[in-house]
Amino acid sequence: MLNCSEADYLKRDRALIAESMKIRFFPILLESSKGCWIRDTQGKEYLDFSASWAVANTGYGHPKVVEAACEQVRKTTMNSHISIPSPVTVELAEKLVGLMPGDFAQKVWFGHSGSEAGDLVAKFLPIAKQRPKIISFEGSYHGQTLGAAALSGHSASERFSGSTLMAKVPYPNPYRYDGDENACCEEHLSNIRRLLSHSDHDYAGLIVEPILSDGGVIVPPDGFLEGLGALCREHDLYYVIDEVKAGFGRTGQLFAFQHSRALPDAVMLGKPMASGIPLSAVVGRAEILDAVPSGHMMTTAGNPVACAVGLATLTVIQQEGLVKRAAKYGARLKEGLQMLAERYPQIGDVRGRGLMIGVELIVPETVAPNPALVAQLCFRAKELGLILFYVGTSSNVIEITPPLIVDEEEIARGIELFEQALADALAGKVSSADLAPYLGW
Ligand SMILES: Cc1ncc(COP(=O)(O)O)c(C=O)c1O
Repeated sequence: MLNCSEADYLKRDRALIAESMKIRFFPILLESSKGCWIRDTQGKEYLDFSASWAVANTGYGHPKVVEAACEQVRKTTMNSHISIPSPVTVELAEKLVGLMPGDFAQKVWFGHSGSEAGDLVAKFLPIAKQRPKIISFEGSYHGQTLGAAALSGHSASERFSGSTLMAKVPYPNPYRYDGDENACCEEHLSNIRRLLSHSDHDYAGLIVEPILSDGGVIVPPDGFLEGLGALCREHDLYYVIDEVKAGFGRTGQLFAFQHSRALPDAVMLGKPMASGIPLSAVVGRAEILDAVPSGHMMTTAGNPVACAVGLATLTVIQQEGLVKRAAKYGARLKEGLQMLAERYPQIGDVRGRGLMIGVELIVPETVAPNPALVAQLCFRAKELGLILFYVGTSSNVIEITPPLIVDEEEIARGIELFEQALADALAGKVSSADLAPYLGW
């Protein structure tokens, strides 16, 4: 039950805030957040296994992050790096370049959102390579601004194709592939090889998520990213990795592309980069980022508060061993969910790396996607005190991305609540009328 003020705010939210900026899974009104927990305006606490769409990697309100923000706000809230540089922005750029592999000249572009980083890729690859087209993947999500939407192969973006010339190819999905992982990998690489088979092909580059995130938390088969990197080198394409969701420790490597040996020419970063203060980046070959001087600049991008928090976020991730922690606790969480899968035939697959886990729900008899059950489970989980969101081109994959500071007890509690929510959903405890306004995407 919502209290009056909560119900009133939600009504005003419905009336005033554009539907174009919403995907809602349940009613809630946020009061505050700390660590892995969020609190609603009635004082009820929820264990947050979403980390606000994989943003709160260091947890909410980490003291070092808060201190960095406050200290920088006291110095200045703003300079426009377009015309007056500040030290913290340069320091963060240096740090990011230092973390990327590759013995070529690299630079950093800063923005506020992953989408703006996607726009840079859409705008600049064709110019830097002097070829018009880009390859991306069906089901991929690179953002919602026009260029980023054009790169994407997700239903949330497909109505906006802009003027970017694209080829969208299937992303390998071992769970839904009729054959072994090697065959899955080879067949999907062959599709791309065919596109590039003419020496006068007109592709400038290829952009890929190292784990297809909003497309369903799909981990590609071993060797697939290496194969892509090799094809890009062989046919002279830029190989671009989108780390906006998977980056900054989440998958048990600092960057998810490090699970493979293929070296990217450019990497898109965002979301957890400054623990939720808007900040994104592309780190990559100078020839790409310098392709059009003054060609992709936003007045407040790379502002000193966001960059100071970005530096503090990296320090926390490194000093507190959050990358290793994600690998260790992610394995525990995955194991716990896999044990549930043995008892619930509605769980078709549990997959992921580190603390980026997908649970795909199916109709057991047909293995068809079960989006209705997923929506009910997330709704019920919230009532029980666990925050879960869902993704997937068939809206049937629960995305589990807790803050990387999650501990053993919280993981055990999360698994317990997940099971209870699933059992309750199967027992019909979620009414269609309650769920109707919260049907996600
Ligand atoms: C892989 C990936 N790239 C890009 C984006 C776009 O980022 P933003 O929502 O910050 O614009 C997202 C957002 O979900 C994402 O998951």
